[in-house]
Amino acid sequence: MTDGAGRTGETGGTDGPPGSFAGENPFPSALWAEAVYSRRAIPATLATGSPAPGTAGAERDPLPQGPRLALASPPLDLMPSPGSPATLADPSVLAALLHYSYGLLQHDLTPGGRPLHRAVASARCRYPSELTLVTPTAAFRFDPLHHQLVALEGAVTGDQASGPGTSRFIVITSRFARTARLYGDYAPRLCAQEAGMLLGAVHLVATALGLRTRPGQDQETLNGLCANGLSAPAEHPMGYLEILGPVRHPADRAWPPPDLAPVLRARHSGAAIFDPGPAPSPRALLTDLGAALAAAPFTDFSCHLLVRRVTGFSPGHYVHSGGRLRQVRDGDPLELLEQIGQTEGRVSVNFRSTACTAYIAVRRGAAVARYGADAFRRLHLTAGAAAHLLCVVAARHGLSARVHNGYDAAAGERLLGLAPDEETVLFQVAVGTARPAAAFRVPVVF
Ligand SMILES: Cc1cc2nc3c(=O)[nH]c(=O)nc-3n(C[C@H](O)[C@H](O)[C@H](O)COP(=O)(O)O)c2cc1C
Repeated sequence: MTDGAGRTGETGGTDGPPGSFAGENPFPSALWAEAVYSRRAIPATLATGSPAPGTAGAERDPLPQGPRLALASPPLDLMPSPGSPATLADPSVLAALLHYSYGLLQHDLTPGGRPLHRAVASARCRYPSELTLVTPTAAFRFDPLHHQLVALEGAVTGDQASGPGTSRFIVITSRFARTARLYGDYAPRLCAQEAGMLLGAVHLVATALGLRTRPGQDQETLNGLCANGLSAPAEHPMGYLEILGPVRHPADRAWPPPDLAPVLRARHSGAAIFDPGPAPSPRALLTDLGAALAAAPFTDFSCHLLVRRVTGFSPGHYVHSGGRLRQVRDGDPLELLEQIGQTEGRVSVNFRSTACTAYIAVRRGAAVARYGADAFRRLHLTAGAAAHLLCVVAARHGLSARVHNGYDAAAGERLLGLAPDEETVLFQVAVGTARPAAAFRVPVVF
């Protein structure tokens, strides 16, 4: 069997070169060097938007097959209703969870632009991740374009499929081929980052709705959830969230804020070239960020902030870890930013006008020692979930946040003072005041 990228299907070795991502191990160890440290895996054709070499075949990306279920209209706010415990059996809660986590939220009418934008960022809007609700006897795939669920026929195990309201797990899988058509062998890196961002999005929206969840990375549980035909041959299991029930005291929380729904509808990554206006950002950007990161689904990361224009914070290098923000260096970090944030010798975004730029770092050394090649998936889930929170906090303050992989991971380690051979930067997120752009985005309402 071949996937959409023309690669041979599920029979590859366990730790082959990056091109063998459809094999048993989708994240060979070489990916760290090829995709995180050197970005060598990005094909030169990306600049023209051409298909990556070896992927020129017709785009085959069928919609999920099976009986379709209409979802309720998503509500315009995301608040637990007082006196009624949150449950997915409530059609409005189910619709809100899916729509605000991964739904289609904006339509960009700019000619030649990328028309469809969802609740999470995605490199060139390829959206390789898939979201599936799993009940004890059935699985339902979210179709964001039609705001529907599709009952996956291969995944029904009992005589009688239970409805999506009885779901116990939300599973994230990834169709690498979708991203590989443009990015070639760099796709597994992007897909891992995006799966993490989606996990952060589902966790955030579930919490806002008053649902208690347990985010999961465990490979065995994941494979068990994906057995019975849940993930197609060219689709990789990435992560999951277990739904535990309603939160007991939904009002007692610093995060998420009550105005989350309009914030998520407004979130965006800025214009094609990230060149924000040089305006100061409000102090609450960093206080909110502290609350958001403290509530992140996974905690084993640190967030380095190179702050230039945030009211009440002197320019400098700050680190958020273990629920605390501390300044580690005073002074304008522009030089650091322009050394770290480079793509092939050129500065990636206009750091001269950003408010702040975040670098999310993880303990790679310890994770590889413990989990081997699977550390790649796990660490990207952890960092990706935090990266999505950064994007949401920026949106709450009217700012745009751009995940940008044009950074030099080795320079980042050195200049941010990370532990040598242990810590690695997995995300660079630039935040700034959006300038008026040529794009014309309209909200999508189902
Ligand atoms: C994992 C990831 C990597 C990205 N890398 C880059 C990048 O290297 N350069 C860039 O200009 N944009 C990058 N982006 C931003 C996307 O192009 C942007 O999210 C997409 O156009 C969707 O826009 P929206 O978030 O406003 O809907 C990246 C996004 C993600 C999620």
